[in-house]
Amino acid sequence: MCGIVGYIGENDCKDIIIDGLKKLEYRGYDSSGVALIGDGEYVFKEKGRIVNMEQTVNRDIFASIGIGHTRWATHGRPSKINSHPHMSYDNRFILVHNGVIENEVYLRDTYLKGIDLVSETDTEILASLMSVLVKSSCCVKVGIMEFMKIVKGSYALALVDTLDNNRLYAIKNMSPMIIGVGDEFNMLGSDVSCMIKETNEFVPFEDMEFAVIGKDDFIIYDKEGVVVNRDSYISELNSDDIELGQYPHYMLKEIEEQSSVIRKILSEYYDDGFVVDNDLLSELENSDRINIIAAGTSYHAGIVGKKIIETMSNKPVDVHIASEFVYNTPVLSDNPFFIFITQSGETADSRACLKKINQLGYKSLTITNVAGSTLSREATYTLLLHAGPEIAVASTKAYTAQIAVLSILAFCISDYEIDLYKELSKVANTIDEVYSLKNKIKDYAESYLSDTRNCFYIGRGIDYYVAMEAALKLKEISYIQTEGFAAGELKHGTIALIEDNVPVLAIISSKDTNLNTRGNVKEVESRGANTLVISTKSVSNESDEIILNDVHPLLTALITVIPTQYISYYAALNRGLDIDKPRNLAKSVTVE
Ligand code: F6R
Repeated sequence: MCGIVGYIGENDCKDIIIDGLKKLEYRGYDSSGVALIGDGEYVFKEKGRIVNMEQTVNRDIFASIGIGHTRWATHGRPSKINSHPHMSYDNRFILVHNGVIENEVYLRDTYLKGIDLVSETDTEILASLMSVLVKSSCCVKVGIMEFMKIVKGSYALALVDTLDNNRLYAIKNMSPMIIGVGDEFNMLGSDVSCMIKETNEFVPFEDMEFAVIGKDDFIIYDKEGVVVNRDSYISELNSDDIELGQYPHYMLKEIEEQSSVIRKILSEYYDDGFVVDNDLLSELENSDRINIIAAGTSYHAGIVGKKIIETMSNKPVDVHIASEFVYNTPVLSDNPFFIFITQSGETADSRACLKKINQLGYKSLTITNVAGSTLSREATYTLLLHAGPEIAVASTKAYTAQIAVLSILAFCISDYEIDLYKELSKVANTIDEVYSLKNKIKDYAESYLSDTRNCFYIGRGIDYYVAMEAALKLKEISYIQTEGFAAGELKHGTIALIEDNVPVLAIISSKDTNLNTRGNVKEVESRGANTLVISTKSVSNESDEIILNDVHPLLTALITVIPTQYISYYAALNRGLDIDKPRNLAKSVTVE
């Protein structure tokens, strides 16, 4: 939520900051702003997309320091006045913020009496608070240490002191922030993507640390002001990976990368046998119950993973919604193991659970797409998805990558009879075949979904789990109210919603439930529903609209989900919606 980019160096940084913000736009896109400092101090901000703000920036300014922000509103509606950067009451400090401050009322009433604030944001309070604290301290460093003592909540902050054009400050607690190390410049950012054009060397922050950053050096301090020495790392991210190339939208690009992602996962995890850290495998084998914790699409991958792990290894698995688990923790078994599934590695709900798990002394694994992300650093073990950057807000390739990695993990702790390498290779080839159905799927999306207000996906077993993910994808980008339903459960109440022309899309890939689900399709048809069946060949009927080639029964989610992703994409395209940046959403959800 919210993206931050900062620069200090010799060169003019207007375009570096604005280009960096565009790479972070997936994190929030209701308003944006930049502060540019060089021959003066200039702040430009605007409601809406970054291009709106970009048009207001005076091209004649030379700025060797800049901070920028793209916002996902938490405190105060999206508006120019609420967008960042915010200035302190005396115009000394300029600040951008990602996070949520919990004690803003206390801070305002205690430290800012008599100071008029112009916005509805907690961030403006922080800017003025910084000025008040620095005034009563010997220097900015000590002011920041005071600040960290009294401010409660999550924050990644980039800060400029207009009295000193040689430094940029950054402070972090529970929101992501990293330093980009350059030659005669340094940067700050919410993730590597906003800096990768300029540098591939990065230094992460930990919570309750701050940094003083010059153009040639930087120092990280802990909250007591003690210097922290931390090694840099080189990111393997390629700046081309975050470009659209020939595609009109990232979502389409990412849908069509899924066969390559499965092959990449095989190449990363297979070397004459699957290779996964032995200590991790022992922890899993010795545990009496696996708990998977995740949110949204990653949760949906988790429930498919449960089925795969339980079937292959017989080990019981519970899957928890992160935001529920943290404050509503169930009774745990004697020797549990925890798996966090998170594309971004930054989701605040999941991170809150991991903190709790760490406090309880349990071991954990993070399955993530982002090396060096917070959940990766804080868990005992990490398995990477190797899916390449996922830029579209709606997750597609991360979902299939998560299921593929979970299947490898399940295989490694079991004696299940399967040639998993061969079966996953077959999945990759079958996904390639699904791409060729896209024009047909596009027509279905138009005829079934162009003017409907609601829609149902139904299935049983793994098909039900895919139905849940398919429904989330359709609602989040097309805004059609969609439910993913257990096909057999429909008749226990929800069938009351079926009326003439309501689309009901059934997923059928299992011979055990084929006839039952087809019975449910008939039931809704006889009440007027407009039905469509996505099936796999061995259980298909000639009249099924979308028929996919067969894969191993435990891996069907990896292929049945692909047409549903296309359906969502084309439904949103037909409605003229902003596919990669759906309303109200953000890719990296770093607030609880
Ligand atoms: C939906 C989507 C979200 C994320 C969820 C968790 O398309 O992308 O539901 O899956 O916010 O995010 P991660 O996986 O980064 O923890």
